[in-house]
Amino acid sequence: MKQNNYILTCEQIYKSYQMGATRLEVLKGIDLNIAKGEFVAVKGASGSGKSTLMHILGALDKPDKGKVLFEGKNIAAFSGRKINEFRNKKIGFVFQFYHLLDELTVLQNVLLAPMVQMGAIGWLLHSAKAKKTAAQLLGELGLAERAEHRPYQLSGGERQRAAIARALINEPDVILADEPTGNLDSKTGNDILRVFEKLHNAGQTIVMVTHDDRIAEKASRIIRLADGKINPPVA
Ligand SMILES: Nc1ncnc2c1ncn2[C@@H]1O[C@H](COP(=O)(O)OP(=O)(O)OP(=O)(O)O)[C@@H](O)[C@H]1O
Ligand SMILES: [Mg+2]
Repeated sequence: MKQNNYILTCEQIYKSYQMGATRLEVLKGIDLNIAKGEFVAVKGASGSGKSTLMHILGALDKPDKGKVLFEGKNIAAFSGRKINEFRNKKIGFVFQFYHLLDELTVLQNVLLAPMVQMGAIGWLLHSAKAKKTAAQLLGELGLAERAEHRPYQLSGGERQRAAIARALINEPDVILADEPTGNLDSKTGNDILRVFEKLHNAGQTIVMVTHDDRIAEKASRIIRLADGKINPPVA
C-alpha cells in the first residue's frame, strides 16, 4: 500500500460512555488526517468531545471502534513497550490541568521523563546533556529564574510554560495541547501563543483544542466538533 504523508490519522473513531442506564455517544465516526508540520486547531462547544478525541489521539484512551494510525501504523497493534514509547517520546501532552509534581522542582519535573526512560545507567551517562537541554528550554520559555521553584510556587502562566517545557523535552513528533491558554490572562496567554507559533514555524506538528479565536487564526486549519462529528454541515 502506498505510504501517505500523514503523521497521525483517525479512521471512523467512535466513543461512548455508559452512564447508568443511558449511553452517551460522544464521538460518532471521526475521520481526521494530520500532516507533518500542520497546526490544527480543534474547536467545539463544551462537552462536544474535544478532550476525548485528544486522549484517543495520544493513546491515553481507546476508541470503541475505529483506528488511530501513527505514521500509517495502527497504534492498537503496538506492543506494551511500543505504546509507552509512543506516549512518552512521539507525543508531547500539554493538558488543561498541568499534572506537575509539587514534590519536584520545575527542572526536575522537566527531566522526569528522560530520566525514567534512560534508566539508572543511561542517566549516569547522559544526564548532563539532558540537564543542559532542559535549562535551555526553560530559558526559551522565560523560566530560567524559576528552575528551582516548585510548581505550587509558580503563577498559572509559569506552570503552563513548565508543562510545555516538560512536553518538549523529548522532542515529540506531535504536540497535543488541550486549551493551553484556557485559564490564563490575555498577556500570559499571548506569551504561550507565541511559544506555539515559534514551534509551528520551526516545523512542529501541533493539535490544539482552543476556544480562543486569536489562536485559531494562527492555525493552518480549524476543525469543529459537533454532534460527534467533525465539521458537520451547518443546519
Ligand atoms: N470518563 C467519562 N465517563 C462518562 N462520561 C464522560 C467521561 N469523559 C467524558 N465524558 C462525557 O463526554 C462528553 C465529552 O467530554 P469531553 O471532556 O471530551 O468534552 P470537551 O469537548 O473536552 O469539553 P470542554 O470544552 O468542557 O473541556 C461530556 O459530555 C462528558 O460529560
Ligand atoms: Mg475538554
